[in-house]
Amino acid sequence: MHLLSTLRVILSLTGVICANYTIFTDPNSASDDQTSISTSIINGVVTGTDYYPFISQLYITENNGSSYNFICTAELIGQQYILTAAHCVSDNSLRLRSPSLYRLNIGSATLATSNDLNNLYTVTNIYSAGYSSNLANDVVILKLNKPVPSSVATPVKVYPYKITASLPVEVAGFGSTYYGGPVSKTLLRALINVSESSSCSAFNPDWANNSGPLVCSISPSGNDSCNGDAGGPMVAKLNGKRVLVGTVSYGENMDRSNVVNCGANNVSYYVRTAYFVKWIASVMKVDYNTLIEIAN
Ligand SMILES: *[C@@H]1O[C@H](CO)[C@@H](O)[C@H](O)[C@H]1NC(C)=O
Ligand SMILES: *[C@@H]1O[C@H](CO)[C@@H](O)[C@H](O)[C@H]1NC(C)=O
Ligand SMILES: *[C@@H]1O[C@H](CO)[C@@H](O)[C@H](O)[C@H]1NC(C)=O
Ligand SMILES: *[C@@H]1O[C@H](CO)[C@@H](O)[C@H](O)[C@H]1NC(C)=O
Ligand SMILES: *[C@@H]1O[C@H](CO)[C@@H](O)[C@H](O)[C@H]1NC(C)=O
Ligand SMILES: *[C@@H]1O[C@H](CO)[C@@H](O)[C@H](O)[C@H]1NC(C)=O
Repeated sequence: MHLLSTLRVILSLTGVICANYTIFTDPNSASDDQTSISTSIINGVVTGTDYYPFISQLYITENNGSSYNFICTAELIGQQYILTAAHCVSDNSLRLRSPSLYRLNIGSATLATSNDLNNLYTVTNIYSAGYSSNLANDVVILKLNKPVPSSVATPVKVYPYKITASLPVEVAGFGSTYYGGPVSKTLLRALINVSESSSCSAFNPDWANNSGPLVCSISPSGNDSCNGDAGGPMVAKLNGKRVLVGTVSYGENMDRSNVVNCGANNVSYYVRTAYFVKWIASVMKVDYNTLIEIAN
């Protein structure tokens, strides 16, 4: 574990909390946060559950259920299982926090309001891929209190093939449209570029190539994921549908003196889902072949 990335992750987590969106359980206490809908993830377009039938939102309560804050994007990976970033459910010492703090809004392309509170799923277990011993393992599985009906959401399949710089990929989430900005109330998606640049290893020693635990992305146009997108999907199209290449971990400015950590020519890292698929299958007690999409 390298100190630099510990600092980076904590920084990005702070950013997530700054991009605040709160649901209040007592209708008399306050109204839901009225953050305006912005135009992009960064440079993104509004998208829906037709493209992202597995999209999910993670909320946390810090006051025993009086209110819930949106913290991260997530995806349904099995009927009763969610994938998201480990840093979304870890404390500053990288320890997993209690499952009882979390709620999920599943299969919706807009953030939840007080009216949705009764439909939020709870979490019974959190399974870690080993984030506390290696920050590259920034992925967790959340087990839900009950299975999600297919009328609500469809689990995403995993992209099992080699990731190259020429593979067209897209990222989606409810995160900020600029660094430190408010979250987006609607799901946004943007095309991004997979990168094989030496900058990818220069800024993260855990990255050697896009066949390991991390996929690197650098997009000159400025299309990027940002705070609040953590845990959200990087997808490629296979057999006409969007399948999971990776999940948003963090990003950083390649100008180390600049604190803005998302945008044009910033470097972003995604946890490559296929690298972890056998672990995911073991947690879910299924054959990993049932989790991957094979090209027709
Ligand atoms: C949270 O959002 C409210 C309303 O949009 C804003 O006034 C406040 O400054 C925000 N807090 C932080 C820490 O960003
Ligand atoms: C949290 O709320 C539950 C009921 O929703 C209550 O039973 C419990 O005592 C509360 N815990 C604390 C620490 O306030
Ligand atoms: C950025 O993402 C948007 C939304 O997907 C897309 O329309 C646009 O073409 C992307 N920009 C580039 C340079 O690919
Ligand atoms: C990727 O990097 C790892 C670690 O350095 C190495 O073992 C592996 O052979 C590389 N894979 C490819 C496809 O280059
Ligand atoms: C991806 O790279 C190509 C070629 O360098 C560039 O034209 C395009 O704008 C880049 N896409 C994004 C999203 O930045
Ligand atoms: C990172 O993105 C921000 C926001 O677009 C931009 O101001 C900054 O110059 C970018 N960093 C680099 C190294 O280009």
